[in-house]
Amino acid sequence: MQQLEFQRHRRLRNSAGMRAMVRENYVSTNDLIHPLFVVEGNDVKREIPSMPGVFHFSLDQFRREVNEVSELGIPSIILFGIPDHKDDCSSQAYAEEGIVQQAIRAAKEENPDLVITTDVCLCQYNPAGHCGIVENGEIVNDPSLELLAKTALSHAQAGADLIAPSDMMDGRIAAIRHTLDQNGYQNIPVLSYAVKYASAFYGPFRDAAHSAPSFGDRKTYQMDPANGREAMREAESDVMEGADMLMVKPALAYMDIIRQLRDRYDLPIVAYNVSAEYAMVKAAAQNGWIDERAVVMETMTGFKRAGADLILTYFSKDIARYLKAGY
Ligand code: PBG
Repeated sequence: MQQLEFQRHRRLRNSAGMRAMVRENYVSTNDLIHPLFVVEGNDVKREIPSMPGVFHFSLDQFRREVNEVSELGIPSIILFGIPDHKDDCSSQAYAEEGIVQQAIRAAKEENPDLVITTDVCLCQYNPAGHCGIVENGEIVNDPSLELLAKTALSHAQAGADLIAPSDMMDGRIAAIRHTLDQNGYQNIPVLSYAVKYASAFYGPFRDAAHSAPSFGDRKTYQMDPANGREAMREAESDVMEGADMLMVKPALAYMDIIRQLRDRYDLPIVAYNVSAEYAMVKAAAQNGWIDERAVVMETMTGFKRAGADLILTYFSKDIARYLKAGY
């Protein structure tokens, strides 16, 4: 038979050592941001049914969790608050003694070196369950900016290190940046949920955070999953308004968007591996249908390959343990 010309790609896959030499992407514990839900009350550590292994913590239990996360070497947590009291002006979002503000101070006491990231949004704090202010059944943009900026400022005043607005109102990065600067917080960075889609993958989170909208949906402010070019316009606005990092959310169905942002901007890019992405893996693993560790690490490596620098994931404690064990 005549000699065929072809490439022998398999040469570089011959052994574990060779594969390690040519490996292009790694997940590191330094890449991780760990989400934590804080509730009012005492001695509460309640598992969220649709998110096995994820809990609601009252502040005392939260302190223990902060230490566990710190001991695993995870550099950052992001806080989500679930207040007892909701009102139309979302007052607990920016109250000095609000649940998130208290949690920030508690986390700082436990570990001053942990980077405390805070989710800035109103949906957990008003009965309508929308991310902005509701007037006559409409989510009004500009009046919402003031409350969002006020919320961000209250987080900075409590000691937050990184402010992450997730509301998707237009102009919120400029409003928050301006308010932080005016109050002496020029050095507190903003991580924008720049590209946030109106996604069905947030279902378990909304159960967890009691933040499902009481009417309508979030499609007038969160993005249409069909749109990619529009994501570039959203990101461009946030970069111009002063964002220091850009997030894509959800992550798995939006890997192309992560890649496009990576190619277009030199800011750190964050992938949010959201609640249903977590729940689906957990459910399949519990049924014995997949190898959880292998699927989790393959997914995370995929985010890195797509161009993410950082990964916000409910799996981060597991990942830190896998990495420690040399996986
Ligand atoms: C609040 C917020 C949501 C998530 C993070 N911040 C819910 C939403 O927009 O409906 C979802 C996170 C997840 O699903 O893990 N705006």
